[in-house]
Amino acid sequence: MTEVKFYNGDNVPLELHKVRIVQKLYLLPIEERLEKMIEAGNNTFLLKNRDVYMDMLTDSGVNAMSDRQQSAMLIADDSYAGSETFTRLEKVVQDLFGTKYFLPTHQGRACENIISQAFVEEGQTVITNYHFTTTKAHIALNGGDLVEAISEESLKVESDLPFKGNMDLDILENTIKEKGAEKIAFVRMEAGTNLIGGQPFSLQNLKDVRAICDKHNIMLIMDASLLGDNLYFMKIREEACKDMSIKEITKEVSDCCHLIYFSARKLGNARGGGICSNDLDHFMASRELLTLYEGFLTYGGMSVREMEAIAVGLEETMDFDNISQAPQFIKYMTDELLKAGVPVVTPAGGLGCHIDAMKFLPHVPQEEYPAGALASALYIASGARGMERGTLSEERNEDGSEHLSNMELLRMALPRRVFTLSQVKYVIDRIIWLYENRDLVGGLEFVDEPSTLRFFLGKLKAKTDWQEKLVAKFREDFPDSL
Ligand code: F0G
Repeated sequence: MTEVKFYNGDNVPLELHKVRIVQKLYLLPIEERLEKMIEAGNNTFLLKNRDVYMDMLTDSGVNAMSDRQQSAMLIADDSYAGSETFTRLEKVVQDLFGTKYFLPTHQGRACENIISQAFVEEGQTVITNYHFTTTKAHIALNGGDLVEAISEESLKVESDLPFKGNMDLDILENTIKEKGAEKIAFVRMEAGTNLIGGQPFSLQNLKDVRAICDKHNIMLIMDASLLGDNLYFMKIREEACKDMSIKEITKEVSDCCHLIYFSARKLGNARGGGICSNDLDHFMASRELLTLYEGFLTYGGMSVREMEAIAVGLEETMDFDNISQAPQFIKYMTDELLKAGVPVVTPAGGLGCHIDAMKFLPHVPQEEYPAGALASALYIASGARGMERGTLSEERNEDGSEHLSNMELLRMALPRRVFTLSQVKYVIDRIIWLYENRDLVGGLEFVDEPSTLRFFLGKLKAKTDWQEKLVAKFREDFPDSL
């Protein structure tokens, strides 16, 4: 994709696919968007997709499938046991990761449930580059805790570190020393580190982590859900990977890991998941849990149609053009926002464009959920929905006080191959308009707050009439536009 230069000098990501199936979208007038946002309790999870113009909530399970994936779904073999579909998927996984054993699951967190039950004992620690919500919850459920071995620089919103997802080797070594190797359940490397803005680790860092794990006889597990993005960044940012094919890089990455798991809602552009390993003991430790929680060993809770789509989707992930699309769109969006002075996570990562709500709305205190307020305001201003990734997504402290998040981000995901560039330009335009009018945006407060995972189902209201004022200003600036 980067090879194509425009005669007029523009730097525009050019799609190397064409659209052949479409879904109708609706863009409601701003007055109706305000009503819908209030009805949804200012929670973008509670909007009906019918009322959303651009669904940028997540890249999970909503990526566009290819013609080859769609056609593969037709030949799926439905047998409960010994399905040919399983054999096909297993073969692709073996070919890409070089692993012998493959356990299918219904999605990523199901892998985390099985892995945590099989390998985490009460009082043990998992060392990770950065946590993911569901991972942390499963480790805690099994009596373990999590230490994040990440440098302070990686946690800065603005940075020019090419591999912010790298594990900090000193923290890793020191934590092992401090706790004792036998207390470490495993080391977990998350590709395309989600919660710090879809940031990659380098192949060299992974090799260094593996060497430390070997020294202490500790298992290294990779969460490969966002591996597609991570492979793209290795290829373009890491000198040693420049002349390697994506398949060669994948093989080197997987050779570093004892066990790999993934959500196929992201990796493979379908819906499902799986665990891969070369170790018979790992396989046997997980096998019975799989039949208990997921389904028989040859479908693991997935529809066989999805499994066929995953098999093709994984193969297509080896195509550089395929995995370039999302990161290049994200970079385009990030660069355009930066030009307008909008604070965003840099360098641009995978998954989506992440807006820094703390800087966007410095007048909204963290207790009033700046990232949640920004998500609400942006839906009202544009009909696009993103996901709050800040204090609202945290659980309260035991004494009931707010647990203030390190970062207040609004994640605008770019599902792979779903949006056109003009749609991306539209949302950039509305974000810039909102930024110019940021003083109008105020805070939120809960009216209905669930005790766990409140960000999914909680309802909030605006603390003042700022939303009505925002709509009035929009109408002043856009008298005739939706
Ligand atoms: N690991 C990572 C890195 C993820 O990003 C996710 C999901 C999971 C595991 C869990 O996988 O959803 O298939 O059960 N991330 C989604 C998101 C939910 O929107 O970022 P799952």
